[in-house]
Amino acid sequence: MTRPLTILGIESSCDDTAAAVVRGTEEAAQVLSSIVFAQTDLHADFGGVVPEIAARAHAEKIDHCVEAALTQAGLTLTDCDAIAVTAGPGLIGGVLSGVMCAKGLAAATGLPLIGVNHLAGHALTPRLTNAVPFPYLMLLVSGGHCQFLIAHARDRFERIGGTIDDAPGEAFDKTARLLALQQPGGPSVERAAHAGDPKRFKLPRPLLDRDDCDMSFSGLKTALLRARDSVIGPEQTLTQRDQSDLAAGFQAAVTDVLTAKTARALDLYLLLQPTTPTLAVAGGVAANMAIRGALTDLCAQRGTAFLAPPLPLCTDNAAMIAYAGLTRFAAGEQDDLTLTARPRWPLDETAPAMLGSGKKGAKA
Ligand code: KG4
Ligand code: ZN
Repeated sequence: MTRPLTILGIESSCDDTAAAVVRGTEEAAQVLSSIVFAQTDLHADFGGVVPEIAARAHAEKIDHCVEAALTQAGLTLTDCDAIAVTAGPGLIGGVLSGVMCAKGLAAATGLPLIGVNHLAGHALTPRLTNAVPFPYLMLLVSGGHCQFLIAHARDRFERIGGTIDDAPGEAFDKTARLLALQQPGGPSVERAAHAGDPKRFKLPRPLLDRDDCDMSFSGLKTALLRARDSVIGPEQTLTQRDQSDLAAGFQAAVTDVLTAKTARALDLYLLLQPTTPTLAVAGGVAANMAIRGALTDLCAQRGTAFLAPPLPLCTDNAAMIAYAGLTRFAAGEQDDLTLTARPRWPLDETAPAMLGSGKKGAKA
């Protein structure tokens, strides 16, 4: 049994400035505090994250965020064993803010510095929340990521598929804009879809003819635009019925694509004959009840557990970064003050590079 470690985590790769403290071992860790300052309002008028605005907001907030995380945990920096920070992938200005802050703190205190891959943070969350044994299947679905990963070990992730263009969250956000619904688009499209008829508009299910785990969401967005334009009135307004039916049609198409591709990913994963077969999700889109429901049913049919960690740990946060850092530090790994920000940093360096780059910056 290794000794419990206390790790400060810092995250600033996209539009959330976050800091957290996690304590424990790789097998049993506890989140002592988790602070997230979201930038949603700052970007709301621009239809996406504006990198310069994000970077400035991170630089302004990050110190306060670290202070708040330590206060909430009832600790000071001297109680920590190491400082973990997202070193990529993400928007370069944001990642730099976090890395510079962590380096400053490490230089001032002499604490070890640990660079963490943001995607490893998401991918290891099922270990933090539920101590899920390896190997498990992970579906990351957010505004910036969409990929299937088989987590074999804390430092070995196999990417078996992903989006070749937009991420689903991005598509939800664009759909909301087309339908004059509020941002972030996911929750408002889901709300509008409740009362809608998902069958009224015939929307495509891209790439389902391909026997792999890759997905595409940009054509769906264009199809939605055409469907909208076929019913929009001379005043450029949509009736509530049209809005609901279009939202329901879009959500059903995304759900069908994610479910069909997850079924293929499960086929590949189950070949490994895992002792505790588990599909875990992460990312904001995992909050969608229609998608969750479909994945829950699919897993039940395949004798696989379905795990959706609590939403604050599914979306961007620093507790996952602290935990991923803890696993690196416990294994004797650390970085030094030459640690650099990596805007592109695939988790599986052996998988072919993915195309596309969404509103939230480079995809790994
Ligand atoms: O993980 P997240 O907070 O940030 C990153 O993208 O990294 O995910 C945010 C994304 C947004 O695009 C948002 O529209 C989407 O997740 N989202 C949803 C729902 N809630 C948030 N998409 C579909 N249904 C939802 N209920
Ligand atoms: Zn993320």
